[in-house]
Order: sequence, then C-alpha cells, then structure tokens
Amino acid sequence: ATGRLLRSRAPLPPKFQARLAIPPVLQGEEIVQREADLHILPGLTTRAWTYNGSFPGPTVVSRSGRPTAVTHRNQLPEPVVVHLHGGHTPAKSDGYPIDLIMPEGQTHHDMAGHDMAAMTGDVSNGSRTYNYPMLQRAATLWYHDHRMGFTGPNVYRGLAGFHLVRDDEEDALPLPRGERELPLMITDRAFEADGSFRYPAGDKAYMSGVLGDVVLVNGLPWPVHEVDPARYRLRVLNASNARRYRLRLDPQPPGGDAFVQIGSDGGLLERPVRHDTLQIAPAERFDVVVDFGRYKPGTRVKLVDRDGGDVMRFDVTGGERGDDSAVPDRLSAAATTLPEPVRTRSFKFSEARDGTWRINDLEYRPGRALARPKLGEVERWRFVTDFHHPVHLHLNHFRVVSRNAQEPGPYDGGWKDTVDLRAAEALEIAVRFTDYTGTFMLHCHNLEHEDMAMMGDFTVEQ
Ligand code: C2O
Ligand code: CU
Repeated sequence: ATGRLLRSRAPLPPKFQARLAIPPVLQGEEIVQREADLHILPGLTTRAWTYNGSFPGPTVVSRSGRPTAVTHRNQLPEPVVVHLHGGHTPAKSDGYPIDLIMPEGQTHHDMAGHDMAAMTGDVSNGSRTYNYPMLQRAATLWYHDHRMGFTGPNVYRGLAGFHLVRDDEEDALPLPRGERELPLMITDRAFEADGSFRYPAGDKAYMSGVLGDVVLVNGLPWPVHEVDPARYRLRVLNASNARRYRLRLDPQPPGGDAFVQIGSDGGLLERPVRHDTLQIAPAERFDVVVDFGRYKPGTRVKLVDRDGGDVMRFDVTGGERGDDSAVPDRLSAAATTLPEPVRTRSFKFSEARDGTWRINDLEYRPGRALARPKLGEVERWRFVTDFHHPVHLHLNHFRVVSRNAQEPGPYDGGWKDTVDLRAAEALEIAVRFTDYTGTFMLHCHNLEHEDMAMMGDFTVEQ
C-alpha cells in the first residue's frame, strides 16, 4: 500500500447522484483564500479552505508567452503559500515553502510561540502577487498550497485548482473543445460525522500517506456526467495526497484502447499513445481523448480504479452525434530530446528510523541545497528508493530516460514534472535548467511524505 486508509465517520454518500461540476474560470487577477461551507455530502456541510469559495478553486487560464499575474489574499486563519505546479516560474513567485502569506491583519511577529516562527523566508502580509511569465507550452498545470510542514492538511482542506495554459500549436489541432473538454481533479477524502474533512493531523500511523474512503471528482463524490456519443478530452489530474489510481473504463469500449493519451504533465506528446488503463500517481496529469461514440447510446460507462473502486460515471446519451474532432497522428513538433547531460547526480528517497522521510538521508532544511546546477546545462538525475514515491521537480519539465536501466514505461512519455518512482526502482531523468537562477524544490508529492521532510532545495546558478 502507498498509504493508510482512513475511514469516514459520516455515512458514505450515494454514488452517481452528484452531477459533475466544472470549476469556474478565474475572472480578473485576484484570488481570495477563505473558508467556505461546501455541500459535498447530502444533508451536511463541509467547512473547507478555498480559493474564492470553491473547491477546486477557479481555473486560471493563461496564454503561452503572455505573462499572468495572480494576487492571492489570505483571509484564512493560518499562513499560506501558493505553488504553480508545472509552472516555469522565477524563484520569487514559485511558492518556496517558507515564503508565507500571513493572514490579513496579522504579521509574522504575531506567530510568536508558533513552531514556524523561527523559520520564515520572504514573508508577505495579507496578500502577495505571483508573477508567471508563461514562457512555456500549452499544458495542464495546477496550483496548490505549499506551506512547509502543512501542505498535506492544506490541500486536503481544499486548496487546489487548475491552471491551464493554451497556445497556438494546440489551438490549431482539431481536438475536442468547449463542453467536450473536461478538467477532472480526482481526490480522495474521509469525513467526520458532522461533514467536516477528517484528517489525522500529527498521527504517526498515517506517515505513509492518508487514503480517504470517498473519491471526489471536481470536489463531489462519485459524480455522473452525461456525454454525447462523441470524443471528449479529459484532463485528468490526481490531486490526492497519497493515493495512486489505475483507471479504466467499465465497460471497455469494443476493441479496447479506451484512452488515447495526447499529453502529459508538460503538454502535448509528439504522437498519441493508446492505453487500456491509466496509471496516475499524485500530482501527475494525463490528457486523454475518450471516444464515447464507440458506445451505444444509453450505455453507462464507469471510470473505475484498479480493484473496481468507482471514480465517476459517464452516461452516453442518444444526443446529437455531430463530432468534427479528431486526434491527429502528429500532435506536436516541439523538441523532445535533450543534449547529453554534463553530469549525473543521485538522489535516494528513503525512510528514516523514526518513520519520517529523507532525501539522501537528509531531513528537509530550507536553504540547504542538495544540488547546484548551472543555468542552461543538462543533467542526469538518478532516483533510487525502497518505497513508492511520486518525485516532483519545480522549474523545469524533464524526460524520463530509463527505469531500472530499461526503456521508460508506458506512462513516462512526454515532458514530465512528476514521475512515479516505484519500490526498489532506479529511475533516470534528463533535465535542462533554463531561464531562472535561484532556489527551487525537489520533493516527494505524497503530501504526507513531503510534510515529513522528504524535500530538498536545488539552487540554479549562473
Ligand atoms: Cu505540486 Cu512542490 O508541488
Ligand atoms: Cu514519498
């Protein structure tokens, strides 16, 4: 197991009752972080921490090459940090875990006696503007809280949203769009009897990761969505703290190959890749096209996890059949290879004796760089482990070069920012550090591991 199951004390909600909700698109440039009472379970409310009152937060839509600024105001009771996951972002706006935004009306001196008081970076009072130059291709990014030691509980309470980047290359493709393009944020949660989120803060028994017993898609339990018998583009994000999914459609479409993958974390693949199942670790994104036209109208198609656990359902209507979308054989002309790396570094992801987590036997400490790559250079980074860890790099997307000295796996294609490192594996990536110097993060994206110190800095130098 890659975590430990936490059971809800509230009755489990019925399946396939909630209608799939599509998060609102952010209007303007400001996000207010505040508490909100959400209706997730029938008859109960869930007090959540939200971006603009919704979970997922509003979807930010950016244009490649056009800078985006987002101002976050903090009306929550605790400090926050915002990271744009997959963003190619200067260090100052990257959401370094001690660059806190204090709650409005508080300064960090008010945190006296708080365990974090001693450890603050570039602190803002009340609000902060993050500047994203968007010198990157179209891709499915997401933003979430990144406060040191609190990322797990903060994301679990609702601090996560999509950030989509679009560009001309992608717009020129005949992919499904409009109502046939669905962002799907998959999370698992457990609930207290009163409907609030149940999270085992500080409970050592859950240091391997928290697994909930209710699956939410875009914030609602096991939702259902009516689809035309046509192609749909699904931007699947696993925003769960620790749970991995192996998704498939039930029933499978005739002939199999249910999912035509067109993109990964860092945008379009060169060519589509067909899958019967999608294996997706925390923080990974799979951009896939599913052709519901392969099913008879009236079919109820469940998206299920490995053991048959339900995720959501698509009900194929007899609706209007028109579908002028297509998945071209050639998706992107972007370069896919990197020059030979100039050096190799190794990172070991392991458990400490006290059950917390380490990279290269070191507990995370802000300001201690595990690597100092040079701007513009390509490096080979080798990850080894004895346990499952979804490894994430800030700043640049990378290519997976090998797994256990073999070819990369079926889910490793394209430009990645998170890679699923499995028990007893050695994995190699190639990455070029571009555009920005400064300090960035490398960490496990199992959020309980991350909070238990499985993080490291790397500093890009001129
Ligand atoms: Cu999605 Cu450093 O994280
Ligand atoms: Cu981990």
